[in-house]
Amino acid sequence: MAKYVGILTAGGDSPGLNAAIRGIGKAALNKYNMDIVGFKDGFRGLVQNKIIPLESRQLSGILTLGGTILGTSRDKPHKMPIGSKVLDMTDVIVENYHKNHLDVLVCLGGGGTQKNAYRLMERGLNIITLPKTIDNDVAMTDVTFGFDTALGIATEAIDKLHSTASSHHRILVLEIMGHNAGWLALGAGISGGADVILLPEIPYNIETVADAICKRSRGGKHFSIVAVSEGAIPKKVAEELKKAENAKQNAKNKDEKKKASKEIKKIREKLSNHTMWVSEQLQKLCKIESRVTILGHLQRGGTPSAGDRLLATRLGTTAAKLIKNEEFGVMVASKGDKAEPVPLDKVVGKKKLVPIDHPWIRCAKEVGTCLGD
Ligand code: F6P
Repeated sequence: MAKYVGILTAGGDSPGLNAAIRGIGKAALNKYNMDIVGFKDGFRGLVQNKIIPLESRQLSGILTLGGTILGTSRDKPHKMPIGSKVLDMTDVIVENYHKNHLDVLVCLGGGGTQKNAYRLMERGLNIITLPKTIDNDVAMTDVTFGFDTALGIATEAIDKLHSTASSHHRILVLEIMGHNAGWLALGAGISGGADVILLPEIPYNIETVADAICKRSRGGKHFSIVAVSEGAIPKKVAEELKKAENAKQNAKNKDEKKKASKEIKKIREKLSNHTMWVSEQLQKLCKIESRVTILGHLQRGGTPSAGDRLLATRLGTTAAKLIKNEEFGVMVASKGDKAEPVPLDKVVGKKKLVPIDHPWIRCAKEVGTCLGD
């Protein structure tokens, strides 16, 4: 029987989303004879029933486009700002899913989207997800689409910073996205030859970093490139945070929990200007002029790399095949050369961080990169 497929893209946008929509759509339309529609701006579009037709015309010419033709948002079905209120809109989503006679909803997103999609699955909807994010932190897949493009952009930035750092004999500190995972900073730092790489997974000592830079300077290299993951954290602050998180977990009553939450918030606020702080400290300790570059959303923009187009197309066409086979409640994961379904309950609530014994960490250390530990 022909299937009626709904697609949405949720969370931060990332290169490769359109390639994935095209992969699902073309296989669904041409190979399996299904009907397919998109919902605008993530889960909000399903609440507002904002439908975007996805026929051959809309799926054509989008492979190389960055962003998402469907639009996206960080809205959660169970906590959606509506006017001045935050409401649970899950019932409306379930109602609209049935009203539109959908056989399946395909959700393209990162960790948060996997969780939101899982909640809808628990409410009886047929769900398939695809893992996208530049952070590469979704569990149970080798890689997420968006990561390869962002890795290229961050590496190119490090390449460019080298010539100006060297000309001015400066320290150049580059902040790289990744949320609480260090994949992007580590990958770009190694590929671009950063002298220091700071990751959330390895709390650092600023003095250790300064020593490494001073040593380079004494050796005649009067510039250094420091790649800082946006979630990187000094050792001392990491210890304070751990203590506060433990206090929250072991709180005996509401007041204790509230107090611990306040403390966690305070510590996190301290980290908000963290990259600037790194630069200031290094300038002071090394007596070398230092400047900061924050790459920010540049890392999510523009044309997807060939690797991301390929990955998104592989995962997208596999999603269409799973729909045909009625294999629902799964995320389409990349495992080596294969694209495989993984039950959603094995994905949600987990984050794929960089293991401290990961080969990338070892090779960074072996080429003499300081990781601040
Ligand atoms: O999850 C992708 C990501 O780009 C993270 O690396 C970053 O922390 C976050 O999104 C930024 O979110 P927003 O686009 O909402 O500012």
